Amino acid sequence: MHIISDIEETRKLIKDLRYKYGIIGFVPTMGALHQGHESLLVKAKQECDAVIVSIFVNPVQFNPGEDFDKYPRQLEKDSEICFKNRISLIFAPSIQQMYPEGLNNTLTKIVPPQIYQDKLCGKFRKDHFNGVATVVLKLFNIIQPDKAYFGQKDAQQLIIIKKVVRDLNIPVEIIGCPIIREPDGLAMSSRNTYLSFESRQKALSIYKSLCRVKELYESGIKDPQSAVDEAKKALHNDVIIDYFECLNAESLFSVEKLKDKTLVAIAAKVDQIRLIDNIIL
Ligand code: PAF
Repeated sequence: MHIISDIEETRKLIKDLRYKYGIIGFVPTMGALHQGHESLLVKAKQECDAVIVSIFVNPVQFNPGEDFDKYPRQLEKDSEICFKNRISLIFAPSIQQMYPEGLNNTLTKIVPPQIYQDKLCGKFRKDHFNGVATVVLKLFNIIQPDKAYFGQKDAQQLIIIKKVVRDLNIPVEIIGCPIIREPDGLAMSSRNTYLSFESRQKALSIYKSLCRVKELYESGIKDPQSAVDEAKKALHNDVIIDYFECLNAESLFSVEKLKDKTLVAIAAKVDQIRLIDNIIL
């Protein structure tokens, strides 16, 4: 397994891998790999001949005051996980390598349509999805994968990336993979490492509240607001909601009635730690 930070070297190696093996799979990450990421690696390995993982904590998708500085960085541990999963190459560039001409005002950015950004996390994390779309497009241009794998946990990210790929005719197949949960239901996330034991117990109520919406839907409740209002009662008192919404899982438009395939998404702070989760009815 190669671990490379240089863009040109990465391109050369991938050219060889493509020639030798064929279909190139790609799993973009910010590192701090957990079983959620591993499920993407496993799927990519099943479907592709060689798999590349990128590890890059992208400054452009963090706003001032967010957790860019404290985001967990553990290249050695991540490399072991990749090695175990027979990954061909880890691309782990520096900020200087990815953004040699600097950030913000001097950087060309990909701006996904505002109607996709004005919802859910986009309402609370201004420009976040410009930063995500920009780095993902840069990574696609460097790696040129045939297939790329993203987790359904970041549902809005997945929808926006699919939209950008369609709109800009990027020759890559985007594959969404199911959320992986701890045995107690907590959605796996690199940010779970910030949770103390007590906060983690409170955080469990987030998934419980999503399951409550599903239960209500299955018992015949079709009005999204009534279902969400009732489900909020399952949340621990210390869980502060950013949003708790029912949306169309492809367009992100609000739904008037709950039906199969509706996305139910929540973001909430537990003792200052922001977590997101969702289910599809
Ligand atoms: O989901 C993530 O880890 C990041 O947003 C991504 C897609 C790797 C872009 O930095």
